[in-house]
Amino acid sequence: MTEPEGVTPALEAHGVRRAFGAVQAVADASVSLPPGTVTALIGPNGCGKTTLMLMLAGLLAPDAGTITVAGHDPSVDGPLARSHVGWMPDSLGTWDSLTCLETLATFGRMYGASKDQANTRGMELLQLVHLEEFASRPARVLSRGQKQRLSLARALVHKPSVLILDEPASGLDPRSRVELRELVRGLAAQGASVLISSHVLSELDEMVDDAIFMSKGVTLGDSADALVAAARQRWRVTGRPGADVHAALSGLTRDWSPALADDASQALVQVANEDDAAELLAQLVGQGLRISAFGPVGSALEQVYLTMEEERR
Ligand SMILES: Nc1ncnc2c1ncn2[C@@H]1O[C@H](COP(=O)(O)OP(=O)(O)OP(=O)(O)O)[C@@H](O)[C@H]1O
Ligand SMILES: [Mg+2]
Repeated sequence: MTEPEGVTPALEAHGVRRAFGAVQAVADASVSLPPGTVTALIGPNGCGKTTLMLMLAGLLAPDAGTITVAGHDPSVDGPLARSHVGWMPDSLGTWDSLTCLETLATFGRMYGASKDQANTRGMELLQLVHLEEFASRPARVLSRGQKQRLSLARALVHKPSVLILDEPASGLDPRSRVELRELVRGLAAQGASVLISSHVLSELDEMVDDAIFMSKGVTLGDSADALVAAARQRWRVTGRPGADVHAALSGLTRDWSPALADDASQALVQVANEDDAAELLAQLVGQGLRISAFGPVGSALEQVYLTMEEERR
């Protein structure tokens, strides 16, 4: 949402819309990706992330709005715009007859590389995603996580300056997730702009510079800043079994307006800052409440996401 002054975004979209029949999948989306940054695209199932990403990647035409990728409009100059974008779909279709290396080399050829160049680049990428031992094995035998890694390698074949990754971490084991994070940060350090959607918010937290929140087909833009502020300080109070946290909270002179968890031994409380949190803890202990845990809920992105979900109700 904040943009360094004087930097031309590598990808920019304004007022993008797309319907499928009666379903308005994307109603009003705006995105700006500065070079060298990683941006998260976050929102609940069905809010339009994949549809938006397909349009940004130049693979689906918007009904309205403008998209510019490295200065090119995909709906006017499709091939040129797409030559700057690497797209990783949420699941990779593979050709049954091709090996992993052939899959990558075939895409390399499609982007205009010679046979030798395409093979060399293919091997380089297989090494990057630790699939070199599968080079001459058919891509269809790969596990889901290995397919994800091949899919990522495929997105990088033509060294794109903009990378659009749809749920890249899904199906990856913990080690591969760390490697994905390092790879994405490394690409950004070399100047790439990355847009990444994921439901694993705690991981995104460590990977991204900025986040775009999306709800019901609309990117929230500056209104997300208010969400961030609202979400920042949500703390969880957990009592020992049998301790009634709700009763203790309602016995306090100050109204903390807690959100109630499923059982009486837990509550979520909005606090303004750490001093406020310390005061809450002191008051609860003063009530004789036996507390076993007290701390902020999840990651910052997770908190915004939960706040957004609550506002939708
Ligand atoms: N090809 C299509 N035809 C009809 N409806 C579609 C099509 N693609 C998406 N939709 C609808 O558009 C809406 C947005 O879908 P989309 O796949 O973009 O959501 P998403 O945010 O990527 O969800 P998820 O988190 O589950 O991946 C949904 O209501 C979906 O049913
Ligand atoms: Mg999706």
